[in-house]
Amino acid sequence: MTGVQITGCSPSRSSDTAPGDDERPATTASPGSRSRVLLAYFSRPGENYSHGGRTNLKTGNTEVLARMIGGHIECDVHRIEAVDPYSDDYDATVARNVREQDADARPAIANPLASIDGYDVVLPASPIWNVRAPMIMSTFADRYDFRGKTVHPVTTHAMSGLGSTERDYAASCPGATIGEGLAVRGEEVRKADAEVRSWLRRIGVLQN
Ligand SMILES: Cc1cc2nc3c(=O)[nH]c(=O)nc-3n(C[C@H](O)[C@H](O)[C@H](O)COP(=O)(O)O)c2cc1C
Repeated sequence: MTGVQITGCSPSRSSDTAPGDDERPATTASPGSRSRVLLAYFSRPGENYSHGGRTNLKTGNTEVLARMIGGHIECDVHRIEAVDPYSDDYDATVARNVREQDADARPAIANPLASIDGYDVVLPASPIWNVRAPMIMSTFADRYDFRGKTVHPVTTHAMSGLGSTERDYAASCPGATIGEGLAVRGEEVRKADAEVRSWLRRIGVLQN
């Protein structure tokens, strides 16, 4: 497969344990086995929202969060790239996103994975654009068979939290269990380490 980037990541352990007080399920791997985790993220560097104004991000907020998650668990990391890359310009991106949402578009992915069959847990990570994930995340979700997998939505955002991602992934990933998501404000993503680790423990993919 040309152009497909999968990066293995780090050392800490995955497990099937489901500690924590959240009502939603943790991972689905059988007792004693390790969950195989795919972290698939989309992130757009460039001009973006920050503290009510604008900033120019060299690395997108979601990419920062994805690297943090990948630093704590054993997982494969897949960066989703658009065939038609999104502009660095904020207003142009807002306008394109409105067009894509209105059209219920499925922007093409340049580097799709052949399959996600080997994974128990999928962490789809993205910014929130107009209160949902960018439509390219629907391209990703529509493409694969999620039956029997647990999906934990991950977002960075200005104020919308997970937006409609839980409902949207539930609709586009039939047969998957939607577990507890993680939403981090873009401006706070670089100091989210403790929050990330406790979420990873709650969803059962980090033990220590
Ligand atoms: C086109 C566009 C639409 C956005 N819409 C929202 C929104 O509806 N709600 C929100 O909380 N943040 C919104 N944001 C802010 C981003 O979700 C936030 O800055 C995020 O951290 C960016 O992640 P990234 O750098 O990985 O792309 C929007 C940003 C863009 C570019």
